[in-house]
Amino acid sequence: MFAPRIARPAANRAAGYSAMLHRSSLRSVKGMTASPCSLQAGIASPRFISAYGYTQAKVLTYSKYGEPKDVLKLHKHSIAAPSGTQVNLRLLATPMNPADINQIQGVYPSKPPFETTLGTAEPAAVAGNEGAFEVISTGSKVSNLSQGDWVVMKQTGQGTWRTHAQMDESQLIKVDKEGLTPLQVGTVSVNPVTAYRMIKDFCEWDWLRSGEEWLIQNGANSGVGRAAIQLARVWGINTLNIVRDREDTAQTEELKQDLYGLGATAVITESELLSKEFRPMVDELTHKGKQPIRLGLNCVGGKNAAAIAKVLAPDSHLVTYGAMSKQPVSLPSGLLIFKNLIFDGFWVSRWGDKNPQLKENTIRDVFDLTRAGKFKDIPVQEVKWTWDKPDSELIQEVQGTLSGFRSGKSIFVFEE
Ligand SMILES: NC(=O)c1ccc[n+]([C@@H]2O[C@H](COP(=O)([O-])OP(=O)(O)OC[C@H]3O[C@@H](n4cnc5c(N)ncnc54)[C@H](OP(=O)(O)O)[C@@H]3O)[C@@H](O)[C@H]2O)c1
Repeated sequence: MFAPRIARPAANRAAGYSAMLHRSSLRSVKGMTASPCSLQAGIASPRFISAYGYTQAKVLTYSKYGEPKDVLKLHKHSIAAPSGTQVNLRLLATPMNPADINQIQGVYPSKPPFETTLGTAEPAAVAGNEGAFEVISTGSKVSNLSQGDWVVMKQTGQGTWRTHAQMDESQLIKVDKEGLTPLQVGTVSVNPVTAYRMIKDFCEWDWLRSGEEWLIQNGANSGVGRAAIQLARVWGINTLNIVRDREDTAQTEELKQDLYGLGATAVITESELLSKEFRPMVDELTHKGKQPIRLGLNCVGGKNAAAIAKVLAPDSHLVTYGAMSKQPVSLPSGLLIFKNLIFDGFWVSRWGDKNPQLKENTIRDVFDLTRAGKFKDIPVQEVKWTWDKPDSELIQEVQGTLSGFRSGKSIFVFEE
């Protein structure tokens, strides 16, 4: 029934380590600006740029909260040629993450302001929180970017579900695109950074015990979960991974094999986690606790999270970063009293606003691992966003992310 695979790659001790807990407050984010036209910009694609230097753009906006199918609208507008430190951008790829949907539903703590700067009939916010963009033109005072460069947004909440955008240079991180794809760049800022920081910042790993310490996580096939598996593997940490049971055993086995392929040490289903067999499994894997489980990562909640907490070693952290089951985390008091477990939350948006340079460094580390073949792409369902694509099709794709088991993350890829 249960066949763990022990993968013991050499630990990358040189990767560096800092044991810090980051708690900070969220800074407000700037929206896109539409500025008066100036004709100093370079031109990447004549089709979208008028004789007066205006770029034609389409953008998915919402003016009230609700289900994506009810509130999202495709809005067309013009973007002036950039002036000063402004940069005009073209979308390469932007994912549809759970947080993006929650934001549209109005149940996410960060709420981009509803504004009229794009000329919408009602004040509107632009959906999407991360993505890869290409620079198509720059203002005269832009110092670090030029046409053809790839960038990601420094902060979440700036609106990435748009074919084109105008941002200030200070809002952008330049990416060394060598050896990278739009998919890899467009999905780096949220999930890999979240996994990376949770593993590094919430546990003082004993690097001398490489391959003898564990982390346990649910939602292991999510973008964050896949990143955690791969980073832990590089850093010599074993992973015990929980996934939801599929409709039949063949599909479940296929999913398990998928995660073993990323370097997972053990993969079990949620029903195994909640069964009587779970404790003996953990004893077997950890040699009766001689190899401690020192970190728990929880994006599910409910009974699942409680079961994970119960097998953590004393003084460990359970970090909650999502609530996919919508069930509260309810924990036995003894875990706090007798095991001194520490229960934390992590939110990459707040952490990134507080630690902008560390965020850039983290992104660069992930890109280095990607180029080295140690960080594989997440499975995706590409949604081609062509200029003529009807709004109903784009919006349907967003709504579809809420339905059942998914074979990959949906991602808008802009094609001119
Ligand atoms: N706090 C932060 O800073 C932060 C950053 C990034 C992500 N997150 C959160 O992390 C979670 C995963 O995000 P992601 O972008 O990595 O996800 P993703 O790649 O879109 O995958 C979604 C994951 O959620 C699971 N899931 C869906 N519905 C579920 C349910 N009812 N019960 C249990 N699991 C369910 C899926 O499992 P199946 O395949 O079995 O459906 C899959 O593993 C989300 O809650 C997201 O909001 C938080």
